[in-house]
Amino acid sequence: MGLKPLKKKGEIMPEVDESEREKQFYTDIPVKNRHFFLKGCNNLDWGMKNRLSKIFNPKTGKTVMLAIDHGYFQGPTTGLERVDVTILPLLPYADTLMLTRGILRAIIPPTFDKGIVLRASGGPSVLNELSNEEIAIDIDEAIRLNVAAMAVQVFIGGQFETKSVHNMTRLVDMGNRYGIPVLGVTAVGKDMGRDAKYMRLASRILAELGVTYVKTYYTEKDFDTVTASCPVPIVIAGGKKLPEKDALTMAYRAIQDGAAGVDMGRNIFQSDSPVAMIKAIRKVVHDREKPEAAFEFFLEEKNRLEGNKKRKT
Ligand code: 5RP
Repeated sequence: MGLKPLKKKGEIMPEVDESEREKQFYTDIPVKNRHFFLKGCNNLDWGMKNRLSKIFNPKTGKTVMLAIDHGYFQGPTTGLERVDVTILPLLPYADTLMLTRGILRAIIPPTFDKGIVLRASGGPSVLNELSNEEIAIDIDEAIRLNVAAMAVQVFIGGQFETKSVHNMTRLVDMGNRYGIPVLGVTAVGKDMGRDAKYMRLASRILAELGVTYVKTYYTEKDFDTVTASCPVPIVIAGGKKLPEKDALTMAYRAIQDGAAGVDMGRNIFQSDSPVAMIKAIRKVVHDREKPEAAFEFFLEEKNRLEGNKKRKT
């Protein structure tokens, strides 16, 4: 018996492929298996990879994350007293914003279309033991806010080490269920080491237990061993405010040593010229500009912006 014709005379079937053109299956072109650009992320699902592509620039494989979540444990941090005034002008230059849901809802325009990395742990303030954190969001909330990743603090060696590791593994399970990456932040307590041995230990534990990528501090010595022994991408925190040239040098060395970018806060928003600084950091991270040249650029940009401001007043 022959096949039933799809269309009888006079019947309207607008979606039927009626093209007269001969079909082309390109049988001579093999389908390519494409490798995902981030270390250790090739076997993740499509949604995860899509979200990671909103954090890391697929062209350079790197990211400039702007961290402004400090208020979740220390209140109105210097430079973040008025996020609407000081941070909104930086948004065009950040690949990703790391922040709390409170600041996101209250201040960040929903037209911001780059990655949001949502602070997902919290509890103690600076007045208490910082490692005593809990998970601070529902996964529904992360989905509702359309985040690119969730960030959790992990206190290896801290008083509540196991609890913070458990927060992380639960968030990883929740994130995996819905395709949301988890950034594990190696939190360093007051009396804890900041050397490569400690960062290797902390970063590797976070990666082994499932985080999608790791944030850690840069170490002057042997940072390349920290990135080499961590099977997933590492971004560095900026830490306390440094002179601009030193912060640019730290970012440059971290990239040279295998970091996939920075998640920087105070060294950008506490700079004399935050816009000039984030632009200079971009040059180091995405263009591998040397710190001396990036610092020259910072000074020129700072002068230019100050000149523009004077002319307007
Ligand atoms: C808070 C954080 C911060 O986001 C992180 O420390 C980055 O900011 P900074 O560059 O100012 O150190 O994770 O615990």
